[in-house]
Amino acid sequence: MADWSRIEALPDSKLMDLFDQDPGRLSRLSLDVGGLHFDWSKTHLTADALAAFAALAEETGLAARRDALFGGAHVNVTEDRPVLHTAERGEGEVGAVDTARRFHTRMRQLIDAIEGGALGEVRHILHVGIGGSALGPDLIVDALGRPEGGGEKRYDVAIVSNVDGVALEDAFARFDPHATLLVIASKTFTTTETMLNATSALQWMTEHDVADPYGRVVALTASPDKAVEWGVDETRVLPFDAGVGGRYSLWSSIGFPAALALGWGAFEELLEGAAEMDRHFRLSPLEQNAPALAAFADLYYTQVRGAETRAPFAYDQRLKLLPSYLQQLEMESNGKSTTVDGRPVGRPTAAITWGGVGTDAQHAVFQLLHQGTHLVPVEFVAVIEPGDTLAEEHHRQLLLNAFAQGAALMKGKQVDDPARSYAGDRPSSTILIDDLTPRTLGALIAFYEHRVFVNGTLLGINSFDQFGVELGKEMAKAAGQGDGDFDPSTTDLIRRAGLS
Ligand code: F6P
Repeated sequence: MADWSRIEALPDSKLMDLFDQDPGRLSRLSLDVGGLHFDWSKTHLTADALAAFAALAEETGLAARRDALFGGAHVNVTEDRPVLHTAERGEGEVGAVDTARRFHTRMRQLIDAIEGGALGEVRHILHVGIGGSALGPDLIVDALGRPEGGGEKRYDVAIVSNVDGVALEDAFARFDPHATLLVIASKTFTTTETMLNATSALQWMTEHDVADPYGRVVALTASPDKAVEWGVDETRVLPFDAGVGGRYSLWSSIGFPAALALGWGAFEELLEGAAEMDRHFRLSPLEQNAPALAAFADLYYTQVRGAETRAPFAYDQRLKLLPSYLQQLEMESNGKSTTVDGRPVGRPTAAITWGGVGTDAQHAVFQLLHQGTHLVPVEFVAVIEPGDTLAEEHHRQLLLNAFAQGAALMKGKQVDDPARSYAGDRPSSTILIDDLTPRTLGALIAFYEHRVFVNGTLLGINSFDQFGVELGKEMAKAAGQGDGDFDPSTTDLIRRAGLS
């Protein structure tokens, strides 16, 4: 077991005092990478804390594990396979990079063919997929899919994940079945929700007399045989390697709707931005390494201060899906209780990620952040260049509010009336992006991926499996077959809903 005693023994200090005591604090705890400015100076990290975390990183073999990750070793030990999402952006083991390139070429060829009219008229992209097969493309398309100057969108994209038919019907209401391309995104090509949605979407096309509905289906998957078996023509199956995890897969063919909607050039820039962050993570010393510093702050709050949650707030409407994207990335990766060698972790693992959009959240949940009893490390994500063309005052207010909230959380305010007092000393970090482009968004997402990896490594857990989702799936299947051995409460609910 790694020795956390040095970290646990770090003295408590007040944030405002830390600034007073150390004029070099801001420069030590902020850095710039790939158009992103990171600032952890409003967290309780100190020079001593950084040294203690660097020692823990040494003890847990972070550098060697990072090399193993990029080198294509089987770091996903419980599934005995490599972790290859960085290869998708050209960083990693040569063979894996080469395979990813070949798959990207295939993807590009299909996009060119669609743009050239080979599949007939395509104006609408109906993407069905769930979890990692939906959240990444949804984030990218929503963040970057607004044409500059309010022009026409290249394609109208609907990403449908929920098995609730309402989700699919909403897309049907918007889309012309004759101009729709059905994209089925599933790494395994067995996920119940996705396969049912795919079947219903195909039926909708058939019912509307689309001449060759199967001819308008594209599959994005690491199980190409299953897609062909389902009925997708091999030429429209875009594979990716099984070593690319679902929640890390937007760089692979799972990014297809984003590449179509934004254009191939933009997709490549997204990959390049991520690759720049990969190189930064691989090559920078820990004290200037953005994913490592962020993970040190995460761990300080979960392990020393007892924080059970963390809250990213996007002060940019274009990034409104970032918190839900991060929920899967962080909670599915590090919500574990067992170490890589099968022992109980014995300490808290991932914080619960929640969050929202500023300034909306200020008028809804920030009360608790300022005066509640929970310690919640907050993360502000903001962009200097506005995404809108309205009066400058909109963006000015947006940014001023983000920065003021961080200052208020830290400074607090004492008055005679306790109900109107703010304790202060509440931590936050800020990520300030120069301009929201495919490149900076790629770098931002890759930063979060590596931060998760550092958290997982220092906790001694495998961030790349997700066995915790299986039991619920098995029990839903058993319930559907009427052979589940259920408790009285569940049996009654199934009966009341008319499902038995
Ligand atoms: O149930 C969780 C999960 O396996 C995620 O990890 C994954 O992203 C999602 O389901 C979808 O899986 P698939 O891409 O195989 O349909």
